[in-house]
This record gives sequence, structure tokens and C-alpha cells, in this order.
Amino acid sequence: MTFRIGWIGCGRQATEMLLPQLVMIDGVTLTALADIEPKPLLNTARRYGVSETFRDYRDLLSEGDLDGVGIAVGPAMHREIGIAALERGLPVFMEKPPATDLAGTLELKTAAAKAKKPLLLGFMKRFSTGNKIAKNILRKQDFGNPLSFLGSYMTAPTYFEGNVDYRGFFLHHCVHYLDLAPWLMGSPVKHINAREIEPRPGRLLIHLDLIFESDAIGTLIMGTMQSRGAPVEFIQIMGDHRKIDIRNVTDVQYTRDPAFKIADTKAALDNGADTLSWTPNMTVAANEDHKGYRALLESSLDAMREWPSSAPTIDDAVRAMTNLDRMVAALDRTL
Ligand SMILES: NC(=O)c1ccc[n+]([C@@H]2O[C@H](COP(=O)([O-])OP(=O)(O)OC[C@H]3O[C@@H](n4cnc5c(N)ncnc54)[C@H](O)[C@@H]3O)[C@@H](O)[C@H]2O)c1
Repeated sequence: MTFRIGWIGCGRQATEMLLPQLVMIDGVTLTALADIEPKPLLNTARRYGVSETFRDYRDLLSEGDLDGVGIAVGPAMHREIGIAALERGLPVFMEKPPATDLAGTLELKTAAAKAKKPLLLGFMKRFSTGNKIAKNILRKQDFGNPLSFLGSYMTAPTYFEGNVDYRGFFLHHCVHYLDLAPWLMGSPVKHINAREIEPRPGRLLIHLDLIFESDAIGTLIMGTMQSRGAPVEFIQIMGDHRKIDIRNVTDVQYTRDPAFKIADTKAALDNGADTLSWTPNMTVAANEDHKGYRALLESSLDAMREWPSSAPTIDDAVRAMTNLDRMVAALDRTL
């Protein structure tokens, strides 16, 4: 039997990124939509052939014949709508961030526990192809313990021109890497120190120094001063004579302990020691989603059906929002 999803919030992220992937997943039907604004509601309904539409999300929850709910509205409403859906007894997939602060995130955790229903979060970077490959290498015995994390994640100042309020940057952007870094390292963050420079309004550059519970160390730079017309993400994780580089969530290089080649006339490439690399073929005639939305949604739908799943949960969101809280406190700012 098909799994019926009602979707709340028909903005850019839902209509352009999530729903195109959702409707391709076997055994799932998008049956109802809600948005307070008529234009995005009608546009999304037309694009995805959905006839049941609601201006008030409460009507979708009470009238829709549903097995689960997806939400992509924004931090100000995620908490309220998420709690209402859970109270209706439905499993929920929700875009990040779950709320505007840690307290709201904890309320969602309580509501999910009370309803005994899964609440999955949109941390799709865990499912981006390069990050997934790196995580699988890091999990293997021969990598040993991950010892350091080095990362850079940037966005553009256009978001903040005219209204320099960095809370959107913290909540929409920084939260991704405050989930991703500990997930890749296989260890929660124990300590965060942070500093910033703001050469002019709208241009913020922050530097985090991280200590993980495993005692691994980390450096993370995030900021609002690079064009999104070029790659903006880089990660390197080091172990003992091992390192993995991930560029822009796709290209992966795994460096081990290669021999010097200069004096070796028989120098070739050694399967067990020389660098392995992977890069996607962007021209293949297949509808591939390297950013990870498709895999995240598949995994979230598995969790909603109470099948085995690796989808990020509200517990992961509590950890990410706790890290965000520590970061803004270290910067002497507030969320
Ligand atoms: N994971 C990612 O890569 C990624 C990327 C972009 C956005 N997002 C997240 O997705 C969420 C939505 O972002 P967006 O860019 O689509 O925003 P958006 O403003 O384009 O869309 C939000 C939609 O929600 C509707 N809405 C507002 N209040 C509502 C309510 N009470 N009931 C029903 N609908 C309501 C708005 O009318 C709008 O159509 C944000 O939390 C954002 O952080 C995630």
C-alpha cells in the first residue's frame, strides 16, 4: 500500500529540491499540500498534480488522510507545526533547523517521545555522495581513529544586505556543519571556542576551534563572504598516516602512506598505499542527486514506516542546536 504524505510549506526548498525527489520514491504518494500563501500553494499543487490543498496547516492535519507529514516552512514555525503533527499521531520529516533555539528543539523531542513517532531532520549533507563515501572509509578499521577535522563552509553576503541579522546564517547554514563535523568524526563535540571578524556589515567570518569527546581536535571556518557561484565547501579529516579530503560534497581523495617515487625506477601505483580518488560523472544520463536530498528522504520515509533507517533524528538535531548555542555564546551573540 502506498504511503501518503501531506506536505506543509510550498516554498523554494520544498518545491525545487525536496518534492522532485520525494515523488520519485517508490511506494510514496504526495496527497495534500498546505501553505498560507495562495501563489506557492497553487504553483506546487499544479506542478505535482495534488488536488487536496489547504491554506491552514491545521486543516491538512485534521482533514487529510495521511500516513506522514513533511514540513519545510522555516525555523519560526517548525516547532509549532511539528508538535501539532506529532500530536495528531503522525511521523514527521522536517527541514532544518527544527526551531529558533535549543528550548524549542527540546520541546519537539518531548513531543516525539510522547507520540512515540519518529521525527526526522533535513541534515542532507550526511547523504551527499562525497560525505557518505568519507564516512564509510572512516568507519572502516584500517583508518584508525579520526584525529583532526578541518572544514570551511561559506555562503554569500547577499542574504544579509539591507538587514544585517546573522541569526539566519547561524540557523540555516551553520547548523549543517555543527551536525556534519561530529557525525563524520564519530564523536560528539566536547568543547567549542569561537572568534569572528566582520570587516563590514553583512560580511562575517567565524573561526571555531573544536574538541571532540574522542579528544580529536578541529578547526571550522564559516562565513558570509564568498560567492555561491563557485564551490564553497571543503573538509579534511586526518588520522595516523591517513587523510580524507572532500571538496564541495562530491570529490573525495583518500591519502594513505605512499612510498617516495623519485628514486624508484619501477615506481607505479600501489593499490594498498597510493591515493584513491572519486569524482562524479556529471554528464551521465541519470537523474542523480549528489547533494543528498533523495537519499535523505528515502531514509526518512523508511524511518516513518518503522523500517531500518539511518535518517537523522530529533536527537541529532538537539546535538546540533546545542553546538550552535555554544558557538553563539562563544561569539558573545544570541540566536
Ligand atoms: N537543507 C537545505 O539544503 C536547505 C536549503 C534551503 C532551505 N532549507 C530549509 O527549508 C526551510 C524552508 O526554506 P525555503 O527556502 O523553502 O523558504 P521559503 O520562504 O521559500 O518557503 C517557506 C514557505 O512556507 C510558507 N509558510 C509560512 N508560514 C506558514 C504556515 N504557518 N503554514 C504553512 N506554510 C507557511 C511560506 O508561505 C512559504 O511558501 C527553512 O527551514 C530552510 O532552512 C534547507
